[in-house]
Amino acid sequence: MSQRTCLSVILAAGEGTRMKSAMPKVLHAIAGLPMVAHVVKAAEAAGATGLALVIGHGADEMRKAVQKFAPKAESFVQEKRLGTAHAVLAAREAISKGYDDILVMFGDTPLIDAQALAAARQKLAEGAAVAVIGFRPPSPTGYGRLIEKAGHLIAIREEKDCSEQEKKIGFCNAGIMAVAGKHALKLLDKVDNKNAKGEFYLTDIVEIAGAEGLDVVATEASFENALGINNRAELAEAEAIWQARRRREAMLAGVTLIAPETVYFSHDTEIGADTIVEPNVWFGPGVKIASGAKIHAFSHIEGATVASNCDVGPFARLRPGADLKQKAKVGNFCEVKQATIEEGAKVNHLTYIGDARVGAAANIGAGTVTCNYDGYSKFFTDIGEGAFVGSNSSLVAPVTIGKGGYIASGSVITESVPDDALAFGRARQKTIPGKGKELRERFASAAAARKKAAAE
Ligand code: UD1
Ligand code: MG
Repeated sequence: MSQRTCLSVILAAGEGTRMKSAMPKVLHAIAGLPMVAHVVKAAEAAGATGLALVIGHGADEMRKAVQKFAPKAESFVQEKRLGTAHAVLAAREAISKGYDDILVMFGDTPLIDAQALAAARQKLAEGAAVAVIGFRPPSPTGYGRLIEKAGHLIAIREEKDCSEQEKKIGFCNAGIMAVAGKHALKLLDKVDNKNAKGEFYLTDIVEIAGAEGLDVVATEASFENALGINNRAELAEAEAIWQARRRREAMLAGVTLIAPETVYFSHDTEIGADTIVEPNVWFGPGVKIASGAKIHAFSHIEGATVASNCDVGPFARLRPGADLKQKAKVGNFCEVKQATIEEGAKVNHLTYIGDARVGAAANIGAGTVTCNYDGYSKFFTDIGEGAFVGSNSSLVAPVTIGKGGYIASGSVITESVPDDALAFGRARQKTIPGKGKELRERFASAAAARKKAAAE
């Protein structure tokens, strides 16, 4: 099969009114990636090298988005929505390029997996002209029914055109089919709109192919594969299924998830074996975690790289550009943004490190803040290897703390500190013997006098 060429035609011209959104339906995300991009990924994983997107509603926004996740895809505008066969024909120019297989897919069916697509393509390799992906939904209402005879698919009947007998069929059309490229246009051009909805149905090519003596078959996929998204409740359902699949995949790859249902992955999260993820952790896009890391509870991580054996959280926030080298520690209520935490460095409590480098084995005390922004520009803080920053210090960037530099707690550091120097950036302490007691007595008698005056 691998030598057969394949074009995926993805239908995404629909309005998606039930999403109640200003954004085209298929751009709503699952695991941080537009649902139509999930469809593209599945098509590519099943061997599609050509991609044709049929768009209509929100065409400009769609083109812009497609440019990002599928720069090689060609977009075709379907001006009027006259049915699924009509939509496929909007991509006539791409289809006529002579691909062996045409995979017709829906942009709003994001959980389709590559194996289901490959199984349908396999049928074409074995000689079928059309292979339709079927599934058995809990309730078949609303779906096209697959009518089979002796292992061959003879028709797909849309709900509105079904007889009472046909309505009882539980095997339904997922909407995805593989069509042999050499027959595709000939079959599609024969579709008419003489049906209950007055639409050009893609599903009619099954009967048309049969009448021409071509072989048509159905393959079967799970219900999840065929889940179509029409509203935000279904979007959340798809998200839940996607997350469940990804958690399982992570666990089988050697990642411990203590409470898997509370950990959220992004479409591109990379996470190594022997990493332990505690409950309630969120991975946004662009996260790479090597092996043996510990991600403690309630951490929020996006755009960050975490090397092996790091310790993160609980309640840590790693923002884009956070780069933790081996054995680095970022503890509770710490935020790291666009900063490198070198090997073995510790940022353990209540700290903000932004636009900075923390040298290897440096220790950043509780409540340290890199003051990186003056309201207009961002500035860099460089902290040398083995430096010690005392608690509650502010490092006003741009500033450098040399190797082994030592910052007294409570300092506001505005000038760079040389290697191995000690810097105080705070007023000297003054201690007055007996003054505490004196103040206490003075305040107590003043309070008593006020109380007496109020009573009189
Ligand atoms: C379709 C199938 C049905 C199947 C069901 C699975 C047909 C005729 N029917 O029905 O057998 O069980 O999907 O969900 O194919 N679209 C366009 N342009 C159009 C019409 C549709 O781009 O002119 C796109 C839609 O945006 C959508 C997809 O094609 O992504 C399917 O269209 P939809 O109207 O949802 O078809 P169903 O009635 O659900
Ligand atoms: Mg539909």
